[in-house]
Amino acid sequence: MAASPLTGEPSRSVLPAARLRGEPRLPGDKSISHRALLLAALAEGESLISGAGDGRDVAATASIVAALGATVERVRQDDVNVDYRVDSPGADGLHEPDGVLDCRNSGTSLRLWSGVLASLPFFSILDGDASLRSRPVARIIEPLRLMGAALYARRSDSFPPLVVIGRNRLRAIDFETRVPSAQVKSAILLAGLRAEGQTTVREAVATRDHTERMLRSRGIEVRREPATSSGGGPVAWTLEGGVLLRALDERVPADPSAAAFWLVAGAIHSDAELTLRSVGVNPTRRAAIDILVRMGARIEERAVGAGSASAAAEGNEIGEPLADLTVRSSELRAIDLGPEDVAAAIDEIPILCLAATQARGKTTIRGAGELRNKESNRIAGIASGLAALGARITVDGDAITIEGPSQLVGSQTQTLDDHRLAMTFAVAGLIASGSTTIDRSESAAVSYPSFFTEMERLRA
Ligand code: S3P
Repeated sequence: MAASPLTGEPSRSVLPAARLRGEPRLPGDKSISHRALLLAALAEGESLISGAGDGRDVAATASIVAALGATVERVRQDDVNVDYRVDSPGADGLHEPDGVLDCRNSGTSLRLWSGVLASLPFFSILDGDASLRSRPVARIIEPLRLMGAALYARRSDSFPPLVVIGRNRLRAIDFETRVPSAQVKSAILLAGLRAEGQTTVREAVATRDHTERMLRSRGIEVRREPATSSGGGPVAWTLEGGVLLRALDERVPADPSAAAFWLVAGAIHSDAELTLRSVGVNPTRRAAIDILVRMGARIEERAVGAGSASAAAEGNEIGEPLADLTVRSSELRAIDLGPEDVAAAIDEIPILCLAATQARGKTTIRGAGELRNKESNRIAGIASGLAALGARITVDGDAITIEGPSQLVGSQTQTLDDHRLAMTFAVAGLIASGSTTIDRSESAAVSYPSFFTEMERLRA
């Protein structure tokens, strides 16, 4: 690591790889790791969470569990994942935190804990780093106020820090989310667990359903309308308040959003074969895999631990389907993606933009506005980073257009301290000529601490 001439921050250079082979180790799914810790805090007794991602975001959630009075122990760890044992007095035994709850860079921590804290009878403040303080919270405040909790935030209730004054018996609501957001949906469902009556969340476009699956596996009845579990389309989720969760041991699947970096690396590199093990392929999370296949990526998928296709879709004992994936060098073609694709692949759009730079033809991504509300303004960040590497990328309002294929040329890239931009530009560096510099590359540790170590192993 060296200092970036642009920002003075630690930066890293990536050189092109002659070939890519091997099995990159993947972190445990970030979304599921957060939820497993949080649900363990709500359930009385001991929960063992194996293979949780050991990124900074999930660590923020673990420290919040401890600040509320549950015992959190790291019982095993390697440089990718950690096993946590959580021993909790249950939701009624949690106590008011002594200090501010620091969510660091994690929007998931902030949004999901807001829902839980709204249903607990005490005062708390959720805060985070500069990036988190610029991310919208009105979308959380509105439904949780309707349920009877008091919430306040900076700049007329727009940005964190967020104050939550919760209460024991919330009102159940029937609420339609304004933006497709699993975080908002989850916050409302988590608050609904301790509300009087039935809470329903309606979404115009289905988002990831881990909270719902994980509540079901802990004994909570969660109804879905329509009943099928395929991705896309409008959907409504309903649960009954006043129910108790049971503690559960579970193994976290490998993160499909982390896998996407290697799927694209393998597809765009001219001499690559990479295998990814036990990746979560929940229908509401697998969009990037399907989009890459539609673009012509040679991805082979083998279901893990399921006897039939329907069992594979419904998943393992915790309700999450898994697969081994092998990707080989591919000839990609351009694709048109709309708002539903963006919602379904919300975290993978940056790396899919890199794939599009190597695809024949014009790729358009419409309805991408929500990317401005992520860890950085990802529309601006991906456009300027890929343009610096010689890609032909333009932005018009909420639409991104990329013409490919382009020979990328190593250059300076600015990650805006965003982990997914840092990893996208690093993968670009594997195929760009010369040296690609990634400023603030250590932001990858937000979700994937061993990312650069894996990258070096694959080219060896
Ligand atoms: C997440 C939901 C998504 C995603 C984030 C994780 C989750 O956010 O971008 O990385 O775990 O629920 P939104 O639901 O707000 O789009």
